[in-house]
Amino acid sequence: MERLYIEGGIRLQGDVTVHGAKNSALPLLVATLLTGDTSRLTNCPPLSDVAATGSILRHLGCQVTQSADTVTVDSTTITRSDIPDRLMREMRSSILFLGAIVARCGEATLTYPGGCELGPRPIDLHLAALKRLGVQVEEDHGAIHCYVNGRLQGADITLAFPSVGATENVLLTACLAEGVTILRNAAREPEIRDLCTYLNGCGARIYEQAEGVLCIDGVSRLHGCVHEVLPDRIEAATFLAAAAVTGGAVTLHRCQPSHLAAVFPVLEEAGCSLAIGQDTVRLLAPPRLTGFGTVRTMPYPGFPTDSAAPLLAASCTARGTTVYVESIFENRYRYVDELARMGARIRVDGRVAVVDGVKSLQGASVTCTDLRGGAALVVAALGAAGRSDITALHHLDRGYAYLEQSLTGLGARILRENRD
Ligand code: UD1
Repeated sequence: MERLYIEGGIRLQGDVTVHGAKNSALPLLVATLLTGDTSRLTNCPPLSDVAATGSILRHLGCQVTQSADTVTVDSTTITRSDIPDRLMREMRSSILFLGAIVARCGEATLTYPGGCELGPRPIDLHLAALKRLGVQVEEDHGAIHCYVNGRLQGADITLAFPSVGATENVLLTACLAEGVTILRNAAREPEIRDLCTYLNGCGARIYEQAEGVLCIDGVSRLHGCVHEVLPDRIEAATFLAAAAVTGGAVTLHRCQPSHLAAVFPVLEEAGCSLAIGQDTVRLLAPPRLTGFGTVRTMPYPGFPTDSAAPLLAASCTARGTTVYVESIFENRYRYVDELARMGARIRVDGRVAVVDGVKSLQGASVTCTDLRGGAALVVAALGAAGRSDITALHHLDRGYAYLEQSLTGLGARILRENRD
């Protein structure tokens, strides 16, 4: 079993580079399927979710090669349109293959996706939107069979909620449909814009008509292109939380500061000072943070739900109280019990968590419950007195590449051990 040992209480200092965004890389990899050509994604982090997406592409008949942070996909050779349950369960974003395979092959058979246990994660918005584009959906004992009679047809679609995944599925399906699709109440996350940039680079015609309104003028074919994955704003926020909890002085490089705009006021409220450059952020933290006030997660450009867990961990030792309100997912606080083992004082009631800052946390044996919950444990362990060991690292490996190297570079004492 793999364990991460962290010797806490060391002030993080120095420079760290932000890697490519998981939540961009996954839909981009799926999108390569549409082109029937070769695409190269650079700045694509070697995460287990990226590998799982590569496995699905290979299963479908694509040639996938990865060297360091570059993934090349040749989708000329696609031979099938189904995904077995075993591969679908690896991650939530496998549902994006639905739109891409239907658009490429005219039919698709897959099952319900897996992913982090954050409460129910239905796909009703995805299916309703695809139906509007002419996709016929039949469900049978957990299998979803989709097909199109003739060609996909552009449509006027309004999402009941600006779901990131549903927006991506519509983009993937509509860019090869006949006619124009208008997507209203679309998600506005930077990763959506990154997907549009890639697809337009492949010959799609997508533009933003207004905030949250996407217009997709269907084309009959796409071609491959080279695309650089945008920087990971969640990894960036995790590094900032780690710097803050240790009273550190850290500069992030190769990040996109505007994507972190909702996170900065929270850190400033905590007493940190920030210097924002074009693609850098420097954070200087006080020896002890003060309570962050109320942090309410919202769809972009609001405070990102994925950044709440690492920030919550940082607030455990702040002077005063911080209140978190989770507006996106129903069950996002499973990691809180693990933080309690380290001495954190947190009360959870439904979607609200109240953190009463304690003077210090103590290192402990803790287990990751999900990806961002795992990041919270790392942040807490970095700030705690003494040694922590963290297990169930497969959750962390879904979303953080080079985690130990990045933190070691900032002076952290962190070691991964494999007892096997
Ligand atoms: C994406 C991100 C995830 C992030 C989330 C919200 C990826 C790979 N994952 O997930 O890291 O936390 O956005 O920013 O990009 N919903 C429905 N029906 C649907 C679809 C969604 O009810 O058909 C609900 C979900 O259960 C959830 C909310 O809408 O409560 C948000 O989900 P969504 O925006 O779709 O998130 P994901 O695309 O799954």
